[in-house]
Amino acid sequence: MHDPVPYDDAYVRNLFDRMGTTYDLVNHVSSFGFCRWWRSTCVDLAEVRHGDLVCDLMAGGGECWGLILRRARSVVSIDFSEVMIGRQRRHQTRFGGRVEVRCENAMASSIPDQSVDVVVCAYGLKTLSPESLALLAREVARILKPGGRFSFIEVSSAAGWWAGPLYRFYLAKVIPVVGKLCLGDIECYRMLGRYTEAFGSCAGVVPHFEAAGLEPEMRSHFFGCATSIAGRKAGPGPRRE
Ligand SMILES: C[S@@+](CC[C@H](N)C(=O)[O-])C[C@H]1O[C@@H](n2cnc3c(N)ncnc32)[C@H](O)[C@@H]1O
Repeated sequence: MHDPVPYDDAYVRNLFDRMGTTYDLVNHVSSFGFCRWWRSTCVDLAEVRHGDLVCDLMAGGGECWGLILRRARSVVSIDFSEVMIGRQRRHQTRFGGRVEVRCENAMASSIPDQSVDVVVCAYGLKTLSPESLALLAREVARILKPGGRFSFIEVSSAAGWWAGPLYRFYLAKVIPVVGKLCLGDIECYRMLGRYTEAFGSCAGVVPHFEAAGLEPEMRSHFFGCATSIAGRKAGPGPRRE
């Protein structure tokens, strides 16, 4: 048994500050490209429409922006790691003024009430405590326009007799070694595996979203190695078909 994982903001921010320079490369190599596929699935499930304003929550280095901006008018991007925000600012220039970067806590952003059409978030859930997940759900409900859509995806603890043990081995052993080769630091990437185990799956997130007046639908991807929740905010807004 491991000790409980730390969820305080300072610890998590420092973890991503340390991983910031190698995060995307390690993710890509160690997931055999799956992380990009699931990110694209997450954006597809958001059903972004032409002209939408999309909030990319816990946006890292802006890995989702290219996918979102195939349709959306613009992105407002939130992250609290200074190193990740530095990457965002360098990446931002490619999108010609269509991305606004804000270094803020995703649970208490300065985004006005009911102002965004869609909220997207890839791989941001696992480092949040249950209390923060409840706050996040309320924040998503606050910033979304009525009828707006949301989509979250997260690496999850796979179930099943063969996928479960294999995936746990991969999270605990393979990712940290790739992290060490790229960053020289095995510990941060080992922590990501521990957060994933503690997170379980998006099943635990669904009740928080429902309690906030959202209508989440959970899906499982590749034998539960990732799970997602996507849906809409209840209300009189336009229902997307
Ligand atoms: C695993 S990375 C995901 C990055 C990106 N979305 C992607 O697709 O790879 C998680 C990001 O969430 C950010 N994050 C975690 N908790 C946060 C919070 N409470 N407020 C803002 N950003 C947060 C971290 O700084 C990190 O950049």
